[in-house]
Amino acid sequence: MSYIKKLIPSKIKQFLSLFLQFVHDFRMYYKHSSVFTKNTYEKIESEITLRYHSIEKGFLHNPIRPRFAKKRVEDLIKLIKQIDLNKYCYNIQIQSALLNMCKYYEFHTEKSIDISDYYLKSDYESYKTLLVYKTNPIKHHSLDSFFQFKNSNFRDFSISRASVRSFTGEKINVDDLHKVIELANQAPSVCNRQPVNVHLIENKILIDTILELQGGLKGYSANLSQLIVLTSDRNFFYSAGERYQLYIDGGIYLMNLLYALHFYGIVACPAHWGMPYQADIKMTDLLNLKNSEQIISLIAIGVPTNEFNTTLSLRKSSNENLFIHN
Ligand SMILES: Cc1cc2nc3c(=O)[nH]c(=O)nc-3n(C[C@H](O)[C@H](O)[C@H](O)COP(=O)(O)O)c2cc1C
Repeated sequence: MSYIKKLIPSKIKQFLSLFLQFVHDFRMYYKHSSVFTKNTYEKIESEITLRYHSIEKGFLHNPIRPRFAKKRVEDLIKLIKQIDLNKYCYNIQIQSALLNMCKYYEFHTEKSIDISDYYLKSDYESYKTLLVYKTNPIKHHSLDSFFQFKNSNFRDFSISRASVRSFTGEKINVDDLHKVIELANQAPSVCNRQPVNVHLIENKILIDTILELQGGLKGYSANLSQLIVLTSDRNFFYSAGERYQLYIDGGIYLMNLLYALHFYGIVACPAHWGMPYQADIKMTDLLNLKNSEQIISLIAIGVPTNEFNTTLSLRKSSNENLFIHN
């Protein structure tokens, strides 16, 4: 058998290996992602997260639209019923959902807006009894308070970064952006290959076309005048095992870029690129990218309004995701 293996040219072996890796990835994603089944707590939790996050983003609008995210609220009521609250209600994502649902109900009650056709008082009262985090799901900032820790120790600096979606439309000058990218370029990458490229888009029509295609920043982009498109170049990767390394290097770079922007007093909001390949083809065309470039993420950047809100976006405690294997 090993004799036959030696006779197969290495290129064919690599080809077969790449094919088998993708078949395996396909099976794993088919079986375990929530695309086809909703059969685990984690899957339901992620459905809940998606919806409460829409609600917390809805609170960022000024003025807040009455009865906003109605479908999300209806879905959340059903989803919360599907989980064992005795077991999971203190998990942070469930607490976040309860917090947003309570705030949603209270906001409408304060404004005397009737939502009883889709959200009953009895549901609100049951959520309220389970709620531990009695805080506002929205954080208010002034420009100074938001950046007060930008020269502090890493803990304070890191915690003070948040996604900002309120822009004035004023542009960051390109010299400052060079400084940001010099710092972001300190990100580690596999064998120091540095496969990431940063494309800065300043043409408003192009920005709007890209955001229309992506869909994740709807309602927040009217005053957005600069958008970064982060790509990772496949030319730098050379084995089937490395097929997703471009995303890992891209993800690490994205985080470093968000920190670099924060350090230089520039606000940002990453926007996902979890898109089908047809959207990649469109973007390659629109931005004249190399065919080998894979989009990792979009990042809206800019100068914020003097006062703005960000979502609370509570994080898990380490008890929820640190597993010690002795
Ligand atoms: C890869 C990635 C993609 C994201 N996509 C979007 C998006 O499409 N729209 C949006 O409003 N926020 C998006 N976000 C921002 C997240 O909602 C945000 O990071 C999360 O709620 C945590 O909040 P924070 O960044 O303020 O700490 C994205 C964040 C990341 C890291």
